[in-house]
Amino acid sequence: MIQAVRGTKDILPDTIDNWTYLEQIARQISEQFGYKEIRTPIFEKTEVFSRGVGEQTDIVNKEMYSFLDRGGESITLRPEMTASLVRAVIQSSIYQQQSITRLWYFGPFFRYERPQKGRLRQFHQYGAECISSPYPESDVEIIHLSTTFCKAIGIDDYTLLINSLGNDAARAKYRAELIEYLRTNKDRLSKESQVRMELNPLRVLDSKDEQDREIIKNAPVILDYLDEESREHFEAVLSLLDHLKIKYEINPRLVRGLDYYSHTVFELQHSSLGAQDSFGGGGRYNSLFNQLGGKETPAVGFAMGAERLLLILESIAKLPQVKEIADYYIVTADENYTKYAFEVAEKLRSIGKRAIFDLQRRSMKAQMREAGKLNIPFVLIIADEELKNSTLTLKNMSNGEQTQIPFDKITEHI
Ligand code: HAM
Repeated sequence: MIQAVRGTKDILPDTIDNWTYLEQIARQISEQFGYKEIRTPIFEKTEVFSRGVGEQTDIVNKEMYSFLDRGGESITLRPEMTASLVRAVIQSSIYQQQSITRLWYFGPFFRYERPQKGRLRQFHQYGAECISSPYPESDVEIIHLSTTFCKAIGIDDYTLLINSLGNDAARAKYRAELIEYLRTNKDRLSKESQVRMELNPLRVLDSKDEQDREIIKNAPVILDYLDEESREHFEAVLSLLDHLKIKYEINPRLVRGLDYYSHTVFELQHSSLGAQDSFGGGGRYNSLFNQLGGKETPAVGFAMGAERLLLILESIAKLPQVKEIADYYIVTADENYTKYAFEVAEKLRSIGKRAIFDLQRRSMKAQMREAGKLNIPFVLIIADEELKNSTLTLKNMSNGEQTQIPFDKITEHI
């Protein structure tokens, strides 16, 4: 038997309702905030991510699904949306047509990571990006959208962590200080952090190594290096969050694993997830448009992992109820009545009802049993007696009540 690729999962009919539910709420809440959906290709030229996400990130260094296509071009399955979306926005010039561009998305992404609970090689994200405002109110709109979505799907016991990485100047100053500090502790750092330290020192702050964490505890923190502009931006974000009563924890060591961030970064965590406790995150990325060849454009966004959202919903028993597959099951005496079953089904469907009937020429008893097993609320019976009177028997499966309805007036009696 051929198995699915490691780290990928089929979404089978028994869980598909969870997925349509998530997507439907994502659409509804995004639209309430004025966001329009965008869909981009699942693969891009590799440079979209190497330049966009950053050469020194884990994503680009070791997690991308990259290959040469038949024309010899390096192609990558998208590991995240922000870089692809910015590429699409620059290419279509939509950001030049209107002042603010608000976009949301839901779709599959690919990262070659070691699979474990809540970590897959093909996973799905819901996300949103707000383009063209440098102001703290757009950071807050994005955070507000993400927390409103959480509330709408019933997740409320999460932690919102927030930090500021400041503007480029503040970050450069901090980076130098951090390297200095890490160098003085180099011998005690893990091998991985020793390498990271020179290339991407901020990422050392994310290390899970025990000994590294001890050293990081005393490392300088970015918030002490924010200049006036950066501090004002951060304080305005926090004050608006306070006003909206959105609870947060400032975590001065939150840096996130993508290079494009400046100013606000944030993450959503839920204790039910264990090691992979972060189910969403985002932040401001003012230089990404430039890096991808567009004109300088401030922007901010977030993304959440759909698999992790579903794990949380499962752990708090808030997954949606599985929908039965039809409203009506049409039971016929035998195959001579199939033509009527087609007719009745068509009438029901024409008024928006979902109707099915047997295709295996089974007995009436077997058909009734199946309707019950599938939890279908109503059965319509067509047999000799019914046909003689030009009627159908409508049976309400929850209380067993039966009524006769005229064959040519079905839709009026439903
Ligand atoms: P990210 O933190 O890399 O950010 O991913 C966002 C979310 O995607 C994570 O919190 C997690 O729930 C989910 N995720 C990531 N990798 C996996 C995986 N291998 N398996 C399952 N779920 C995963 C971004 O992707 C940024 N583009 C967010 C953003 C948007 N920043 C600004 N705008």
